[in-house]
Amino acid sequence: SEEIFQSYRSAASHLLTVLESKGVPSPQIGIICGSGLSELSKTLTSTVTVKYGDIPGFPSETGVVGHKGEVVFGLLDGTPAMCFRGRFHSYEGYDMNTVALPARVMRCMGVKLMIVTNAAGGINRDYNVGDIVSVQDYFALPMLAGKNPLVGHNDPELGPRFPPTSNAFDNSLQEIVMSSAKKLDMSSFMRENGTYCFVSGPMYESKAECKFLRQIGGDCVGMSTVPEIVAAHHSGMKVICLSLITNKVVVDGTEGPPASHEEVLEAVNMRSLQMQGLVTEIAKAMKEN
Ligand code: 6GU
Repeated sequence: SEEIFQSYRSAASHLLTVLESKGVPSPQIGIICGSGLSELSKTLTSTVTVKYGDIPGFPSETGVVGHKGEVVFGLLDGTPAMCFRGRFHSYEGYDMNTVALPARVMRCMGVKLMIVTNAAGGINRDYNVGDIVSVQDYFALPMLAGKNPLVGHNDPELGPRFPPTSNAFDNSLQEIVMSSAKKLDMSSFMRENGTYCFVSGPMYESKAECKFLRQIGGDCVGMSTVPEIVAAHHSGMKVICLSLITNKVVVDGTEGPPASHEEVLEAVNMRSLQMQGLVTEIAKAMKEN
């Protein structure tokens, strides 16, 4: 696992060399696109695109239909940024150090703020399909049980052996998210202080599992994001997490049809443009703060 730390650095230095040769400034904000949200890269201007397969240390495929497998560099409302189109899901069989690779590569490139997005099932009864949740906490059963990117050798240059996670999210960043949404007239479908539950997938949850996640205070559930958040926080980056609610989880059978990938992608499409607007507005607000 020490080799993987080297691969983060070689990926980062390769990408920095590419940027330098094209006169593109190194990124300050890093975006990871959730399922169906790859269009978030359209928020960037003056772009340079590099395929994952052309980056040393990167696996060449991401495996999920609709994911692109490329990183786009450019300006996000004037701020240098990078955008990962396609993430490495643990349900594909990637080890957690690979799942964390986008977060760690952006850190090695000097990124200060990671904006991570995902499609998620709604557990909170008040949530509707199409809601965008500002995630401020998480529950990650696989990670508590040892399936997480901090297990194994710790690279002290990246972060400490025993990092706290109770401070992974920042209230002032949430305020920026919510006020940015308000400016864009998105308040009616924004939800704050969400708790995201990470499950391994790829199957959607059983009714009893959904009930359990609701009872422990979960608001939404998905198969990604928390490994990247923990890796980002461990290495000193600030984190904004936005979950798009694509379906209501089934607990008693009256909520609607069982979860399906088609339903998820459909709901994502309906908010794609608004997610782009929100991310741009957040970058704008960060500049002013
Ligand atoms: Cl209901 N569950 C999980 N695990 N991931 C999801 C989802 C549900 N809806 C979208 N992604």
